[in-house]
Amino acid sequence: MATRTQNRSQNRSTNRTSANRSGGTNHSAFSWGDNAGPIIGAALAGAAVGLAANYGRKFLMQGMESMAGDWDEILAAEHDLALGIFDKMLATDPTQSFKRKMLLMKLTHALDKHAHQEEMVVYPALREANEAVDADTLEGEHGYIKTFIYELNEMGPEASNWLEKVREFRQLVSSHAHMEEEQVFPRFKQALDEDQNARITSLVNRDGFWMA
Ligand SMILES: [Fe+2]
Ligand SMILES: [Fe+2]
Repeated sequence: MATRTQNRSQNRSTNRTSANRSGGTNHSAFSWGDNAGPIIGAALAGAAVGLAANYGRKFLMQGMESMAGDWDEILAAEHDLALGIFDKMLATDPTQSFKRKMLLMKLTHALDKHAHQEEMVVYPALREANEAVDADTLEGEHGYIKTFIYELNEMGPEASNWLEKVREFRQLVSSHAHMEEEQVFPRFKQALDEDQNARITSLVNRDGFWMA
């Protein structure tokens, strides 16, 4: 009785034999044919240009941010950026639904990237430094920030209480940013030595680069 291994090798040799019968070339449905070279080359070149453009954009965005200085200064600059988007949203009226949608998308991306940098680097470092209570409070607030984004998307830009919701949302982000900038981050930074500080800055920049 043939073993399973013997059966598998028998199947492989049967397949090779049938390929040989059809002229020795494997005309698989997935074979590219003789003229595929230039097409693949062009597709790869296109993908490379796209990738390079995307990397260029990321370098530009995160490069500009890293010039802001240390991790806490980068994050404070991002708070200002988000609050600026809120102000633009609050200056709209219900006829500007497209502008409202675009600004909400921009805000979502900015807050998402920002939260990622904090949740993947800064808050874990805080927990490591026995600041878990603050880290957990702040991370919990990020959840409510996402809830506001969900609610604004659900209600749509023409809703009569859109501005009111945005105002409430801005208030949460502003007090959250205030707690980070005025209390938690300065206290934590004071306890870091130069190398630890540089390490956190580098990790925040790296995370921001991938999220940009
Ligand atoms: Fe935060
Ligand atoms: Fe923050």
